[in-house]
Amino acid sequence: MKFTDSPVIDLQVRDSCLSIQQDNASFHVGTSVWPCSLVLAKFAERWAPPSPPTTNDDKTPYSDLLDFHSRRRRAIELGTGCGAAGMAFHLLGLQDLILTDISPVMPALKHNLKRNKPVLGKNLKTSILYWNNRDQITAVNPPFDVVIAADVVYIEESVGHLVGAMEALVADDGVVLLGYQLRSPEADKVFWEMCEEVFVIEKVPHQDLHPDYAYEETDVYVFRKKKNKN
Ligand SMILES: C[S@@+](CC[C@H](N)C(=O)[O-])C[C@H]1O[C@@H](n2cnc3c(N)ncnc32)[C@H](O)[C@@H]1O
Repeated sequence: MKFTDSPVIDLQVRDSCLSIQQDNASFHVGTSVWPCSLVLAKFAERWAPPSPPTTNDDKTPYSDLLDFHSRRRRAIELGTGCGAAGMAFHLLGLQDLILTDISPVMPALKHNLKRNKPVLGKNLKTSILYWNNRDQITAVNPPFDVVIAADVVYIEESVGHLVGAMEALVADDGVVLLGYQLRSPEADKVFWEMCEEVFVIEKVPHQDLHPDYAYEETDVYVFRKKKNKN
């Protein structure tokens, strides 16, 4: 999918339709909706059980990963931008979710949360969180069972902080769900080198993405903390 400059992006999630307003003319990339967030959201929509699986027939290859009904999971999104992925995950059952970004992006995020309140049913929690800010990381009270992030790897200098924030936020038995697209070869190299130190990395096969939201350049990854990191 090419980046779309339509002022409003519609995202169907099961029976609900999110309507996300973006401002591509702004100086901040977070005021746009990026394809990775849609690919990640639609992957989750494809596989998340609509209710707690009770028999093996209800199970999918990703039902343990994406079953947000059987037990309450604490979740956080990093670099949420306009909130597309986070809002979709909330509709799929992630009730206890904090959407985070840098302060200049907050007005766009809050505007979109308000715009979608009739669909979401309530205002989701938001928090200003810069990846290099330890106080802000502590303030959201980790650990989290699920850390979501989409299209956040594009500045080489911030990659270390991003991986550090992921590591600090995710529980030892939690998961990071990442929508990824190569933006900068330098950032990409450092990011994967650092992630391999910290996480066991699983790439979702392309055939498991949502067929209408599967693009050659965009991937979904699942990270779990390594048990014995030396
Ligand atoms: C390309 S946008 C992706 C936005 C959204 N996840 C999406 O896919 O539509 C990258 C996001 O990361 C955020 N970001 C970049 N550097 C950050 C940092 N150091 N701390 C926190 N957020 C950051 C940006 O503000 C922006 O919202």
